[in-house]
Amino acid sequence: MKYYEQIVKNRNSCRQYADRKVDNKVLNELLKYYEDEESVLVDGIETELRFYVGTVWDELRKSVGYNGFCIKAPAYMVIFSDVADHYRENAGYIAQGLTLKLTELGLAACWLTINDAYGAKTALDADTDKVVACVVAFGYRDPQDQAKKADKKSLDEMTDGFKYGQDIDTDLFYRELEDGLRAIARAQSFANKQPYRIIVDYDQISLIGLPDEETNENDRRLNYGIVMFNFFAVMAAVRPQPPKWSFEPVTDRDLGLPADVTYVAKCKL
Ligand SMILES: Cc1cc2nc3c(=O)[nH]c(=O)nc-3n(C[C@H](O)[C@H](O)[C@H](O)COP(=O)(O)O)c2cc1C
Repeated sequence: MKYYEQIVKNRNSCRQYADRKVDNKVLNELLKYYEDEESVLVDGIETELRFYVGTVWDELRKSVGYNGFCIKAPAYMVIFSDVADHYRENAGYIAQGLTLKLTELGLAACWLTINDAYGAKTALDADTDKVVACVVAFGYRDPQDQAKKADKKSLDEMTDGFKYGQDIDTDLFYRELEDGLRAIARAQSFANKQPYRIIVDYDQISLIGLPDEETNENDRRLNYGIVMFNFFAVMAAVRPQPPKWSFEPVTDRDLGLPADVTYVAKCKL
């Protein structure tokens, strides 16, 4: 399967769902994927995946959804996580795998901003010591849904060569990495702001965060987890040894970062 063409490129957020129940077969497939197949970004952080079918919107809307609006969907999936370094990026990475699995299964989804994680946990009446790290609405898309696909930054805008702000030699890098980089440029982000960039080098890529006043800390970190998963998944589909992201700093080269941007993570190729 061409993972980028068929899954990543085809996904787009859904805010209008058909009145069709998500049955247990789908939930079991998601759970099986989460338990048996999915890779994590940070080893050792415990997470739990829970589904809420059909009943929680009235309560959840008080704490979840940007602009005071929580999308009404037949089902929600929630990643609960222990709190540790990079737990939000890790939860975002895991939930993105599940979101793309939903695309594969013919369903649609939309991430939701968590305005109050404690309130969301109370709304879900969750008996766990973990925190609510991600909430994703999902179901079958309403066939009447007329929403256009969101415009995305071009690959040129998204990538630099060797140093921040430096043009990339596309002949040199794009042949092997193109689909992986495109998967980053296609990723979901809070309000489609895409506040990040990739510096490409011969042996690694680096994810750089751009300043964005509207994206809060939680969503910023979820954004990062999502793009890291997209790159990983597309490369894993074509390589026997999938690349692994690391939050270790870059010490062996100068990325030329200006003061207002942030180094996030690197991925050896
Ligand atoms: C962390 C995060 C939070 C989001 N929060 C919301 C939300 O509260 N409400 C909403 O309608 N969409 C939300 N979205 C969906 C984005 O608006 C959507 O991904 C973006 O507009 C790009 O569209 P696409 O997903 O179709 O590519 C969120 C996305 C992310 C990654």
